Amino acid sequence: MSVMAFDRPRVLSGIQPTAGSFHLGNYLGAVRQWVALQESHDAFYMVVDLHAITVPQDPAELRDNTRLAVAQLLAAGLDPDRCTLFVQSHVPEHAQLGWVMNCLTGFGEASRMTQFKDKSAKQGADRATVGLFTYPILQVADILLYQANAVPVGEDQRQHIELTRDLAERFNGRFGETFTIPAPYIVKETAKIYDLQDPTAKMSKSAPSPKGLVNLLDEPKVSAKKIKSAVTDTDTVIRFDEKEKPGVSNLLTIYATLTGTAVPELEHRYEGKGYGALKTDLAEVFVEWVTPFRERTQEYLGDQETLDSILAKGAEKARAVAAETLAKTYERMGLLPAKH
Ligand code: AMP
Ligand code: TRP
Repeated sequence: MSVMAFDRPRVLSGIQPTAGSFHLGNYLGAVRQWVALQESHDAFYMVVDLHAITVPQDPAELRDNTRLAVAQLLAAGLDPDRCTLFVQSHVPEHAQLGWVMNCLTGFGEASRMTQFKDKSAKQGADRATVGLFTYPILQVADILLYQANAVPVGEDQRQHIELTRDLAERFNGRFGETFTIPAPYIVKETAKIYDLQDPTAKMSKSAPSPKGLVNLLDEPKVSAKKIKSAVTDTDTVIRFDEKEKPGVSNLLTIYATLTGTAVPELEHRYEGKGYGALKTDLAEVFVEWVTPFRERTQEYLGDQETLDSILAKGAEKARAVAAETLAKTYERMGLLPAKH
């Protein structure tokens, strides 16, 4: 680890390899921040495959999607020389600290996690696994292992970061200062990107219809069409107003972020122009942005040797940090050290 690393605050985040393609919400809400933060922070980013198995999975698909997730992260701009990029299951300490955190969490406390309630309702409560129930607790372990100061995520993850803070404080209070208390790093403007067909629901891979979901790896033409048919409102004025005009506001947010233009500037530019012009232009902006992204993803995917070597180095760096935290945790709790 470079000397610099000690001077910099640390960030950690993860993304699931469940869907194959990342969607625009993942990119704007989270991954974009990951790329920016590697410049100023000691950054740890991982593909959370152990979280992906909390719902039924096909082994070959999981393997492919894990590599695909790594390729997309690299294509988005993560630089393995400037951040630590790894796969969660390559670092066994995640499952180990996960167990410790399970033993610290109240059943009622875990039952209050809204994402579990949503996901289990979707699957039918009888089919939801205990793993899905303890999913947030594994996430707590992910974060605490690295003594992260901040966790860049979208708004839907706020409750899990709160749980992380609670458990870290509980452990520290009971067993002595062990864990850094992490803060959520949620960029207000892009914290929640909405479904293009239902601009009151977040864009999600599990949306009831794919029409409002923009997948980064889909044919750009398909996404352009979705953008052009985004639901707006019966008015024609292009103005950012999340309450009255959620559809238009969502499009303005996406446009502003992809181009680095301020929203008021866009409002000004499209004064009197109508929604059609805004949508057509945004479709073009998106296609221009996503085309090289898709190409880079394919390139990384085609070079499996490089990909595997990046992940091997990442896991080694991650393990060094994780093992130290786990050893300290075990020791503080009174687990007898093994003699070698
Ligand atoms: P997931 O696909 O659930 O692993 O999510 C990966 C990251 O994307 C997390 O930090 C989420 O908070 C973020 N995210 C997912 N959907 C959205 C969305 N619609 N808007 C903003 N961020 C999102
Ligand atoms: N639960 C997160 C999501 O669905 C993914 C995740 C797992 C994560 N471990 C993490 C995010 C640790 C941040 C930090 O998006």
